[in-house]
Parts: sequence; C-alpha cells; structure tokens
Amino acid sequence: MTDTQQPKNILVAVAWPYASGSRHLGHLGGAYLPPDIFARYHRSFGNRVLMVSGSDVHGTPITVRADEEGVTPAEIVERYHGEIEQNWKDLGFTYDLYTTTGTEMHHQVGQDFFLRLLENGYLYRKTTEQFFDEEVGRFLPDRYVEGTCPHCGYADARGDQCDNCSRTLDPVDLIDPRSKLSSTAPVLRETEHYYWKLSAFQEPLLDWLRTREGWRPHVINFAIGMVEEGLHDRSFTRDLDWGIPLPVDDLGPGKSIYVWWEAVMGYLSAAKEWARLRGEPDAWKDWWENPEAESYYFIGKDNIPFHAVYWPALLMGYGGLDLPTDVPANQFITFKGEKGSASRGVGRSISWYIDHFEVDALRYAVAINFPENNDTDISDEDMIRRVNEELVATWGNLVNRIVSMTGRYFDGVVQEQADLDEHDDALIASVDETLSEVGTLISEVKLRAGLQRAMAGAQAVNVYLSEREPWKTAKTDLARTGTTLSVAAEAIAGIAIALYPYLPFTTVKVLEALSVPMGDHGPSWTLPEVPAGTRIGELGPLYAKMEPFGEDE
Ligand code: MF3
Ligand code: ZN
Repeated sequence: MTDTQQPKNILVAVAWPYASGSRHLGHLGGAYLPPDIFARYHRSFGNRVLMVSGSDVHGTPITVRADEEGVTPAEIVERYHGEIEQNWKDLGFTYDLYTTTGTEMHHQVGQDFFLRLLENGYLYRKTTEQFFDEEVGRFLPDRYVEGTCPHCGYADARGDQCDNCSRTLDPVDLIDPRSKLSSTAPVLRETEHYYWKLSAFQEPLLDWLRTREGWRPHVINFAIGMVEEGLHDRSFTRDLDWGIPLPVDDLGPGKSIYVWWEAVMGYLSAAKEWARLRGEPDAWKDWWENPEAESYYFIGKDNIPFHAVYWPALLMGYGGLDLPTDVPANQFITFKGEKGSASRGVGRSISWYIDHFEVDALRYAVAINFPENNDTDISDEDMIRRVNEELVATWGNLVNRIVSMTGRYFDGVVQEQADLDEHDDALIASVDETLSEVGTLISEVKLRAGLQRAMAGAQAVNVYLSEREPWKTAKTDLARTGTTLSVAAEAIAGIAIALYPYLPFTTVKVLEALSVPMGDHGPSWTLPEVPAGTRIGELGPLYAKMEPFGEDE
C-alpha cells in the first residue's frame, strides 16, 4: 500500500456450512478455501479484514439427520461442528471468528431482525396449508419432503431447493411429494405463519442488481433472472422446534424462524460477537454501517438466491446496514461429472484429503481448479499430477536449487549484487510486476488466474537460472555466480509473497529462511530485499513428490 492509500475495511463473509455431516472437497473448492486466499492477500496489502463464519446448526438438514440416526439434533451439531472447525484449523484458515448459529448473540440478532421487519411492515400473519405426515403426526417442512422439481423435472428435488437447477422451492411446489419420515404421500393441513413481504422488494432489488459492476456473469444473470421471474411473499417461519424461537408468542409453540433467513444473518451476528469478544462492542459497525466498507460473500452457486437476492432484501427491510459489494459464487466441483454430495457418497470428505495431502499441496491442487465460471471436474490423479508437475517441479525445486547452490558456493550467505545487467534488472522488474498483477487478480476475486500468474512468475525465475547458469560461472567468475544467486534469492522472496495467500505454510518457511520480516498478518505485499550478508536458514524440501493412492484408500 502506498502512503496516499487509506486502508479499506473489508468484510470477508464465508458461507456457513451445515453441521449435518462431513464437508467434502466440492465444498472446500466451492466456498471455503477461496475466502482465506482473499483475506490473506488483503491483510498483507494492509487492509482491515474481518473474516467471519460459523456452522449452520438449525433447520431440517440437522433434524433429518438426527431422526435418521435416532440421536438429538444437538449431538449431530456437536459432532460435525467439531470436525468442521478442526478442518479449518488444519487448513490454516484465518477466521477472525468461526462460531455457530447456536449462540446467544445469534438468537438475539435473529429476533431483533424479526421485530424490526415486523415494525417496518414487512411481516404479516397468514394461515396456509402445509404438508402433514398423518402416519407420524407431524408437519413436514422443507427437507422432510422430496419430489419432482416443478421447474426442471429433477426427480429428487428437496422441499427447500432443487439440487439440479438451484431454484428455491416450497414443499407444496413439488410434484408427487413424499414424506421422508414415512415415504407416504403427505396431506395438506392448515397452519399459521408469519409471511415475509418479499414482493415489496422486487423493484428495489432489480434496481440494485442492475447497477452492480464486476460481478461474475453467472451470478448476476441468475439473480436478475430470479427476480424478473417474480418474487412472491415467503413464509418467514416454520413448524419446527429446532431453531430460533419467534420473539412474539401469538402463533403458539413449536414455531421457529426459517433456517435460511436466520442463517444469512450470521454474517452480522458473528461480526457483533467478534466485537463483543474483543471488548469493543461497537467495532462491528466499521464493516456494517460504513458506506466505504466492502463486503464479499464466498459461496457455492446453490447459495446464490440466498446471498444475491434474499439477504439483500432482508438488509433493505432492516435498513441502515451495508449491502454486499460482491457475491463471487463458485460453480460446482464435479467428480466424474457428478456434483459432490457427502450424503450420496460422491467426493471424499475434507478430513480424508487433509490426511492424504500436505496442506499447501492440497490448497494448491484445489485452488488451481477453482470452478469460478464453470463446473470443473476434479480427480485424485489430476490433483497429484498438478502437485508433482507444477508445485514441486516449478516452485519447490526452484527454491531448493537456489538455497543449495548458495550453500555450496557461499556457505549459505547471500552475496553482494555487483555489475547488474539488464537480465538481472528485468527479472527483478518482472517479480515486481507479478506481485502487482497477482494482487489485482485476487482483489477482483480471480483467484485461479492469480495462482496461475504467480506460478508464471516462478517459471520466469527458472528461465533466468537456466540462462545465467550459475553452476557454470562458478568455475570462471564466482562473483557473477554470487550476483545471480542473490538476484534469484530476491526473486523467490517476491514470488513467495505472491504465493503466500495460496500456500501460507511453505511460503512463510521460505520467507523466514530468507530473513524477510513478517508482520502480524503475514508478509507485506511488496518486493522484499534480501540484503548481502543474509545467511539463508535451514530449509528442507518444501513438498514431497506424491505417489498415486492405492485402491483401498
Ligand atoms: N448452510 C448452508 C449450506 O451449507 C449455507 C448457509 S450460508 C448462510 O448450504 F449464510 F446462509 F448461512
Ligand atoms: Zn429444478
């Protein structure tokens, strides 16, 4: 950051995983890894980042699972929230707060939102017919009903959303509905709910969406298309005990706020909780009541309706809070053409990948495949190939060659740069260029291109070495070898910074070995100096070459 630039406040809002099962590789590449890269870059650059998320612990994804296993919803939540939180630690995710929707703060925020919408005239009571399972004597909200999607004909659509076309649904929309509890056809029964006057936001949302700039085409097109199809009022509440109870008691017991409407409020409640835990209870406002602040919502494409349409409408109805700057949703990672699904056994769990890959190698193999604009097929073989042929060959070996030659010829000490010629200057200029271009790509959330660009920067250092041949000049002109290796050391320090958001563990090792100063938030986003006299620290191979996995793994 130059002296004239002011640090920006950037909210990095990460989708809240359901604590209803292990998350798989598709989730990692879709929603969870991208924001860590984005947040690390912005902190290095000098911006004020607040990165929050948590486990989504309410709604029918949790209760359906609990029913299937014959345990309480709380047991399911405890098990999977623990596993997910551990995954994020292992992966090095830099959350300012990773919490859950089960907190006191989140309940307060959900109820406050409800009351504000009620006061502003956006909630009203209405009696409607909902599915009821006569065999078990229960109302069947959302995922308790499955059937055929009325929009695309997909046969296994869930009552809340179609997995095939991503449209949000109401169970009563389904063709040939069946109860998940008894497999019988449910019947309609009257029940009273609070309804949300979503229709009132049709025009304001269209005006807002049509003026967004820089959004991914698939996101903005889906959102505008959805609003143009017409927004109808939606039920704000559900016949479900497991959730946030209503702050009014005129509907009687057994009702809660619909999980999706309160889950998206988690971005706000987590920011408030973070501020409270810091002992500065108003600190969240810098990201929420500040027109200069920016907010980025990292999600998979099935979440687009909730983040690009419903959440902005909730915020408009509440008033005074910042709307999303961008919703850089990813498309799906697929496995042999199929969308990952932990419950259907497509795609392995994140825990499995953590056990079978070095962390930075895993981050690399996923980031280079981010499905930013298209569904992207991924296989273990391809991930291993990319680790070996790209990460190890282009970057890991480069670092090792420079470190070991400096060891061999100069006892590990970086030499004076004497008689720099245009090739040396050109390399340093190109690294500077790499840093600024990678920074621009990341800030535009083109993370896959940013990684490709950083790797091209590493490749340029390889080309420089093969042209300069320091191992040959060592026999004829040792000073030249010293200059070459010193320029190369500076270059890999710069490339390590460009790669830092993607590969935080191994690049920090490289930077520490080169004595590059490290702030609280990682290295700073500028070409570092590696002064003559620096003794390069111990550094073993950065990554191991990977072997194919056996059949039974
Ligand atoms: N739990 C939802 C999912 O995994 C995502 C919720 S994002 C939120 O798809 F913001 F709504 F919480
Ligand atoms: Zn559909």
